[in-house]
Amino acid sequence: MNEWDQRYDCEDFVYGTEPNDFLREHADVLPAGGEILCLADGEGRNSVFLAERGFHPTALDYSAVALEKGRRLAEERGVVVERVQADLADYTLDRDRWDGIVSIFCHVPAPIRERIYRQVPEALRPGGVLLLEAYTPKQLEYGTGGPPTTELLAGVEELLRPLQGLELLHARELERPVIEGRLHTGPAHVVQIIARRGQD
Ligand SMILES: C[S@@+](CC[C@H](N)C(=O)[O-])C[C@H]1O[C@@H](n2cnc3c(N)ncnc32)[C@H](O)[C@@H]1O
Repeated sequence: MNEWDQRYDCEDFVYGTEPNDFLREHADVLPAGGEILCLADGEGRNSVFLAERGFHPTALDYSAVALEKGRRLAEERGVVVERVQADLADYTLDRDRWDGIVSIFCHVPAPIRERIYRQVPEALRPGGVLLLEAYTPKQLEYGTGGPPTTELLAGVEELLRPLQGLELLHARELERPVIEGRLHTGPAHVVQIIARRGQD
């Protein structure tokens, strides 16, 4: 069991079963009915929400415990979510594969982050959209959730660097209340990005 398996090894859903607020608000920007890769999807709240909205999501995470909880949540809600157990440290995104890539609180070390996001522009199909929300390094001052170290956190400039070539629809850092399960508990500092691959 890795540290995430241990965190998820409990009865409740540590980030709740409702989707992330930013995703819920902006899901319509994703191509309708499209195939969506949910990076570091955890216990499935976001992929299940997308399936309920008529998308075809694939949930990727390296925690087997999280993916199993996500499987149960999808079953309970009567929707289909594909699942991939993989480590982003060595995962390669297929090219021209996804109508959308959703990355919600995917906090990984900088080399892994850069490696994955560098592949995103070509992994999207023409017209495909990346939607991302994560805590910034400033979140450490808030103490309301997220990793305890800057090593796993990034601001908007750093996140945009590997996303060259995508059209930016939304890119900002802001303070907002994040109350999403018992591990995300209040005012927070986040970065949000929505970026689209052109039609080529
Ligand atoms: C803060 S949780 C967010 C979960 C989910 N996106 C949500 O918003 O409910 C971060 C997730 O990243 C996953 N994760 C961390 N490092 C990973 C890696 N190297 N490869 C794949 N998943 C990873 C963890 O297992 C965990 O589910």
